[in-house]
Amino acid sequence: MNHIVQVVPFQDLFFSACAIFIIATTLKALCFLSFTFYSNKLSQASRRDIQNKIYTKYMDSDHQFFLDHKQGTLLYRLLNAPVNVGTVLKLVPDIFVQSVKILFLIILLFSMSPNAAFGILAVGTLFGFLVKRLSSVSYRFGKEVTQALSDQTTIANESISGIRQIKIYSNQKLWIRKFWEKINAYFYYKFRSQILNAIPIMILEPLIICAIGSIGILLRIKYGNRMAELLPMLTVYMVAILRINPSLTIIGQHRMLIMNVLPDLEMSYSALKSPTRTIHDGRVSMKSFDDKITFTDVTFTYPSRGEVFKNLSLTIRKGQTTAIAGPSGAGKSTLMDLLVRLYDPLQGTIQIDGIDLKEIRIESWREKIGYVSQDPFIFHATIAENIAFDMSRYPMAEIIAAAKIANAHDFIREFPDGYDTVVGDKGAKLSGGQKQRITIARAVVRKPELIIFDEATSSLDTISEKQVQEAIDDISEKYTVIIIAHRLSTIKNADRILILDDKRIVEEGNHKELLQQKGMYWRLHQQAVSEESSKTVTYASV
Ligand SMILES: Nc1ncnc2c1ncn2[C@@H]1O[C@H](COP(=O)(O)OP(=O)(O)O)[C@@H](O)[C@H]1O
Ligand SMILES: [Mg+2]
Repeated sequence: MNHIVQVVPFQDLFFSACAIFIIATTLKALCFLSFTFYSNKLSQASRRDIQNKIYTKYMDSDHQFFLDHKQGTLLYRLLNAPVNVGTVLKLVPDIFVQSVKILFLIILLFSMSPNAAFGILAVGTLFGFLVKRLSSVSYRFGKEVTQALSDQTTIANESISGIRQIKIYSNQKLWIRKFWEKINAYFYYKFRSQILNAIPIMILEPLIICAIGSIGILLRIKYGNRMAELLPMLTVYMVAILRINPSLTIIGQHRMLIMNVLPDLEMSYSALKSPTRTIHDGRVSMKSFDDKITFTDVTFTYPSRGEVFKNLSLTIRKGQTTAIAGPSGAGKSTLMDLLVRLYDPLQGTIQIDGIDLKEIRIESWREKIGYVSQDPFIFHATIAENIAFDMSRYPMAEIIAAAKIANAHDFIREFPDGYDTVVGDKGAKLSGGQKQRITIARAVVRKPELIIFDEATSSLDTISEKQVQEAIDDISEKYTVIIIAHRLSTIKNADRILILDDKRIVEEGNHKELLQQKGMYWRLHQQAVSEESSKTVTYASV
């Protein structure tokens, strides 16, 4: 040192020191900045990409996937769990940085006093061991937190979707209690986890103080009165310890937190890695539907259920109105699900104009179908958007024309904002019949070659039913239509009526022919006629 001071003038040395200090500080700031920038970017980008992948997977999954999972669980996996993946990715680099810091300090200590370094290592190991034990508890607590949060999402989701029913049955208190139980469980588990995660901070300092104390006593015993000579070394040693303390605490805490959110990470991982259950797409692009649909010896079962169809065969011709009737639960909707390829038959084939449905590109076939189901799906948007789905696809004139065909134009015009009326979640501002007519307009606007009405009027009151039925009758004259029949009166005029019962088609023909056959249709018809209020007689109630 003396040597340097002699050679280099003091002023130069001072300036060099200042320069080094400035450069070092700037570098440190730059490192910190880029570290913050990249770690945040990495964590946010991975959350986004994971969410995107999971959502795409959901959209590509087959229909059964959604029947097999709770909505709340699916939402949690998509919205909540990936957030924690981002959190962990931010923590991991920090653990690395802190570990490097500790390593440097330990090396420094070793060069000065191996004994002291060993002392610190011993404390570190003891601390690591404790954190490891606590981490496994943290993981267990984390699982409970995840479960509670997922349950909470499920309850909130179900109750908001079913708010009408809840109010009608005056069930609010029950749901408030259910929700309270879940948020309270979450409070308890989360609070417990947070306290547990704070333990590393609480224990490290006392541990270090004990270590320092013990080392001090050892030195006192060994060096006695020569302690003063050790002072410079002791100072470095203390500084090192004080620097190691926060780093160790951070590592301990991060590790606890990672273990705490590990269940979420596992959930995201399994959501990403589980194979997507999709229906295999065909290659033939359907140009048009020209002739007929045939089911040949179709057998179908749902998982965990007996056969719904066994060797079922039927033909649906282009240009005709085909009615399918049968008791509730006979499989009428399932038949349509097979036709639009939400499921594939276990055995047998479905052909469109002689081409196996499995060979046809699903999208090219579904484009040709308009589907009106029993419970209309209306989303929170304008009426026009609800009809078009994608406003860029259809000019307003076509949307209005479709609404006219669906018998909806008049009531839509009566809203102050007309087609721009926002209808509220699930169409809360519309009556059942209005919603149904909007979904009919939605089916028509696509200019489909086949329109399916699956018990489209069954949940409507008499007046709404009449309005919807008029629309269906009009459409039946112009389009190829399949009507899943609910009331006998609605299928009388169909070109062909198929009676589905006992896993197959048991009768077929038009109204007249079926009456002559004096079979099931005839019996039901007799019953309907004999009852004054024939309108209310349904297959479901027979
Ligand atoms: N996703 C499903 N998983 C298992 N069973 C189902 C599923 N959907 C319907 N089912 C059962 O299949 C049968 C036919 O149902 P469905 O086609 O809805 O009858 P329908 O429309 O004639 O009333 C019923 O017994 C029903 O319980
Ligand atoms: Mg049905």
